Amino acid sequence: MAEVICITGATSGFGLACARKFANDNDVELLLIGRREERLQQLVQSLPGKVQTFSFDVRNAEAIDQFARTLTDSNTQVDVLINNAGLALGTEPADQASLEDWNTMVDTNIKGLMHMTHALLPQMVDRNKGHIINLGSIAGSWPYPGGNAYCATKAFVEQFSRCLRADLLGKHIRVSNIAPGLAETEFSLVRMKGDKAKADALYNDTQALTPEDIAEIIYWTVKLPAHININHLEVMPTCQAWGPLNIDKTMV
Ligand SMILES: NC(=O)c1ccc[n+]([C@@H]2O[C@H](COP(=O)([O-])OP(=O)(O)OC[C@H]3O[C@@H](n4cnc5c(N)ncnc54)[C@H](OP(=O)(O)O)[C@@H]3O)[C@@H](O)[C@H]2O)c1
Repeated sequence: MAEVICITGATSGFGLACARKFANDNDVELLLIGRREERLQQLVQSLPGKVQTFSFDVRNAEAIDQFARTLTDSNTQVDVLINNAGLALGTEPADQASLEDWNTMVDTNIKGLMHMTHALLPQMVDRNKGHIINLGSIAGSWPYPGGNAYCATKAFVEQFSRCLRADLLGKHIRVSNIAPGLAETEFSLVRMKGDKAKADALYNDTQALTPEDIAEIIYWTVKLPAHININHLEVMPTCQAWGPLNIDKTMV
């Protein structure tokens, strides 16, 4: 039986690299999700093996339910769910940040991931088989100025992943939180709302992680023997590390 891998956010960055990586396996069936229909169609043309695409917004709970019903109707059971769709918007301090941006991040990074999990986990439990890979971030553990709501959404992903593990103890279902640092994808272009110069500036003079680096790590996490569960995997490029805590000397 083909292994069924479902990837959200497959039209770009980590999700796209994962789709390419897993597509090279024999006997794999890919279910690829994103909003950009044209890119999904290109993927169907370019990837080997059985690829199905589903164009919907993970903020749309009804669309997720419809997706789950489609799978049930075609007797398709997901073996690996890669909850990757997500975004950051803005870098302003909290008092100047857009509430709309905060809500979009919460609706996508938290609620979208939660809804996808809620829709697909029961069939994994029924079969006593599955693996959920959540895309967290170093931002889930380490705060930085302007990170506010984005960091908080990824802290949710980290703790939600651990809690899933606690609930699923005794079942052959793995849950992994993959937490990358600086990686060059469309992430910063989205965060800077299309300002390419600002997005590029972040990566200039760095050797950031690539989407392929993360796909390699996710692939390894999935392919480890079934008795091994990577709970949390934090990865940064070598050129990135923590700075000192800030102390303001102008306040007295
Ligand atoms: N790049 C980094 O530095 C970095 C570091 C740590 C963690 N991450 C996390 O890694 C994940 C992937 O990011 P990336 O770096 O690969 O960014 P990316 O290149 O911008 O890709 C994001 C993907 O998410 C999809 N997406 C966004 N909103 C969506 C929605 N509402 N419904 C459905 N799909 C949606 C996008 O597809 P459509 O636009 O076609 O819908 C796209 O395929 C995110 O969760 C991000 O927070 C990124």
